[in-house]
Parts: sequence; structure tokens; C-alpha cells
Amino acid sequence: MGIGMITITAMAVLLVLGGSTQVVESAIGVNWGTISNHRLSPSTVVNLLRDNKIQKVKLFDADPDCLRALMGTGIEVMVGVSNDLLATLSSSTAASDLWVSQNVSRYMVKGGANIKYVAVGNEPFLSSYGGQFQSYVMPAMTNLQQSLAKANLAGNVKLVVPCNADAYESSLPSQGAFRPELSQIMTDLVTFLNSNGSPFVVNIYPFLSLYGNSDFPQDYAFFEGTTHSVTDGPNVYYNAFDGNYDTLVSALNKLGFGQMAIVVGEIGWPTDGAISANVNAARVFNQGLINHVASNKGTPLRPGQPPMDVYLFGLLDEEAKSVLPGSFERHWGIFSFDGQAKYALNLGSGNGLLRNAKDVHYLPSRWCVADPSKDLSGVADHFKLACTVADCTTLDYGGSCNGIGQRGNISYAFNSYYQVQKQNSQSCEFDGLGIVTFLNPSMGQCKFLVGVAEQVVTKHLSLGLCLQSRFVVIWLSIFWALVI
Ligand SMILES: *[C@@H]1O[C@H](CO)[C@@H](O)[C@H](O)[C@H]1NC(C)=O
Ligand SMILES: *[C@@H]1O[C@H](CO)[C@@H](O)[C@H](O)[C@H]1NC(C)=O
Repeated sequence: MGIGMITITAMAVLLVLGGSTQVVESAIGVNWGTISNHRLSPSTVVNLLRDNKIQKVKLFDADPDCLRALMGTGIEVMVGVSNDLLATLSSSTAASDLWVSQNVSRYMVKGGANIKYVAVGNEPFLSSYGGQFQSYVMPAMTNLQQSLAKANLAGNVKLVVPCNADAYESSLPSQGAFRPELSQIMTDLVTFLNSNGSPFVVNIYPFLSLYGNSDFPQDYAFFEGTTHSVTDGPNVYYNAFDGNYDTLVSALNKLGFGQMAIVVGEIGWPTDGAISANVNAARVFNQGLINHVASNKGTPLRPGQPPMDVYLFGLLDEEAKSVLPGSFERHWGIFSFDGQAKYALNLGSGNGLLRNAKDVHYLPSRWCVADPSKDLSGVADHFKLACTVADCTTLDYGGSCNGIGQRGNISYAFNSYYQVQKQNSQSCEFDGLGIVTFLNPSMGQCKFLVGVAEQVVTKHLSLGLCLQSRFVVIWLSIFWALVI
């Protein structure tokens, strides 16, 4: 083979790679979860997406309020089927037809929502689920695919299954393989995805690797270079993301699908509730990730080919999420619950740093605290109740309010509860131990929140219209009565 031949081959490879990077131009999307006690109205959130030029959003369900607010925006949407629906959808085509018609077809109209993906389950193969959803995934996919085809949507809407990175394992990326008990189902899944031109969706969390393993080198979780690089044959890994991603590439390769497109369905860094969860770490991680993806460098096993899309987790804090994984679980947002940017982050679409939500309607500026003149020895039950209903995770070890003292703790708990109760005056009683104050009790990093008073108006749209038309009728009757 002459040198010319090699050059031509190399050029062809470059062209192919050049072509594919153009096609897969990675976009940064966000996960919009809604497990919150202080929900912003969907239209406020959608305006926040638009102001920040976020073109892709992933939902965990098919919430009609969210989807209605997304109509006409052109924003690409991934809707989700929750795990507990998988059994029904796997056993009944009538159920899958209904699901598609109620949660997809009705929005796919002119000026409707731009639904591109349906996520079938959310991390259904997670080890901690003990396989309970596993057998439903493929039959549910098959039924939903048929329902989409019947609705003439199979060309526009693709089914995917967001998998946790615990679906595969290996100490070295090149040795990556799916968990042995998943090998059959993964073969079926990627064969299905491949025949539909769908990507493999994976959630990757270097934060959890660091949180769960005290030996995990801190700097390997970030993108700033590391003193703990991992050498894997000819390849050297400088960050956990690349190593994890290539482990998946190897696992796919073993099944014969080494070229399958990959979407990162969730990735992010929390800002509170654990030692390594703070605003600076979150900013450094997310900005490093975004810059890494935008550089089109790819990974050692996929040079020049970044993931097809990357959905940050998450858009907003969700302070009603389960804290089973840890207190950080309620603090993943790049925005706080009220749509305020927590740190300077450039999403890379040429629009500069994050912009805050506009026109957020807050409750009045007042707080509930422990009455300074009272003895608090009998407060334990109140504290417990308040923190069961409202969020107190910032008080925990590593949290931004850890260390504000016992009285501070109690005030914080009282206030969180009071705000969740929309500042209802009875909700600051606590048997006479609570008192409302107009002085912001926040201390340094520890912020005492004021809730939002957003109305979810779209929910009762049809009822609203109905009432309005009745109002018009009544008004007209009065008008005619006056004229006559
Ligand atoms: C599907 O649509 C129905 C009707 O709007 C809605 O009640 C339901 O919550 C949606 N399902 C999911 C999983 O979001
Ligand atoms: C405040 O509450 C947190 C969380 O319950 C606890 O870890 C901490 O020890 C408390 N501080 C005091 C001084 O009671």
C-alpha cells in the first residue's frame, strides 16, 4: 500500500468523522423534574428555557401542564413513561394505544409540542430494583412502537430507555460489558434501538462515584486534569466521564453495536446536602462538561464524536424528592426552585451566562422562626413534623445550614414548613413556639427561603374557558336586560 493510498484512506476517515460530527452536533438539554413543594408555573419555566436558549428538555412523565406550556415553542421534548406503568403497557396494546393517544398524539398537532422521544421507564434496570421491571421493558417497547406506528408517529417519535451507568461494569473502559444478568435483555434492547435508529440513553454521575467511595480521587471526577489518570492499553483517561462513557462503548461493541449513537440522559452535580456538593464544585463540573462536549474531542474510543445530546440534571431544585440516595438529592438544579441561577454557567449556545426566571410571584417577604423568648425543650415533635413535610436537608452534615446551632435549626425547620404551607398563619404556631418575622433570618451561606405563589393556570384551562363563557353569557344577559 503506497503512501497516497494511506492518505486517501485517512482523508476518507476524516470526512466520515467530519460528516458525522456535523450530523450529531451535540446539544445541551435539561431534565425538567417537578417533584417540588414550590412549583413555578409551567409557562414561567418554559420562558426560562427560552431565555436561556435551551432547545431540548427531558420530562419524567407526560404532565399535561408542562406539555401544554411547551406547545408552539419548537423545543424538543422527551416524555417519559414511569416504571410503574411498564407492566400495564407490556400486557395490553389497548393500554399502549391509549397512552400514546393521551400523552403523545394529542400534542403532535400544528403549533403543538415537538415530542422527539418517549423514554420507556426510567433506569428500569437499576440494580437496587432487583429486576422487578426488567421483563416488562421489551414488551412495553414493542406495544408502544406499534401504537406509534398506528398513530403515524413512528417516523417522528423514537422510543429510548434511559439506563443508569450501573447497567455495565469494568475496572478498565476497554473491558466494559453489561451486567451478566442483563446480557440477553441488552442484546434485545440495542437490536431494537438500532433497527429504529434510536440512541442508547445513559445516565452518568461522577458525583455519585465520589460520594459513594472515599478512595475515589476528587480531581478525576472533574475535567481539569488529574494526578490519577487511568491508563488502559494505549489510551489514557483524565476524567471519570470519559472512562465511564468508553466502558459503555466497549459494552455496546461486545454486542456488535460499537457505533450506536449515545445520548447522556442525565448528568450533573448537586450544590448542597453533602461535603462535595457545593456551588463551586457544581459550576466547575458542569462548565467542564459543557466545554468538553463542545470541543468535539470525544473520548479515546470515540475520538471526534461527542455524545449526540447531553441533558443536564437538572433544571430546578426539587425539594420534595426522596432523600434515600442522600440529602444532596434535592439540590441538583442549575437553578434554585424559584428559577434563580445558582452560579455562572455558560451553556455554550452563544448566549452567555444563565439568566434568571422572570416574573416569579413570591409570597410576601416574611419568615417563621422560633420565638426567642420561649423555651424550646418540647420542640422535637414539631421539628420532626416540619422536616417531614418541608425540606430541611441543608441542615445536614455538609449542607449550607449545618452549623447554625440548635435554635437556628428549629427556626429553619419552622420557616420551611411555613413557606410550604403558603405562609398560612396557623402554620407558624407550633404550640406558641413560632413567631412571624419581617427580618430576613438568613445567615451567611444559609438562606431562609420565601416560597413562590405561582398559580398553575393551565391545569383548569377547559374549566376556565367554560366559566369564562358562562360569565360572558351572564354579562350579556345583564347587558340585554339593561338595554331592554
Ligand atoms: C397521560 O395523559 C393523561 C391524560 O392527560 C394524564 O392524566 C396522564 O398523567 C399522562 N400520563 C403520564 C404518564 O404522564
Ligand atoms: C441541626 O440539625 C441537623 C440535622 O438534623 C443536625 O445534624 C445538627 O446536629 C443539628 N444541630 C444542633 C446544634 O442541634
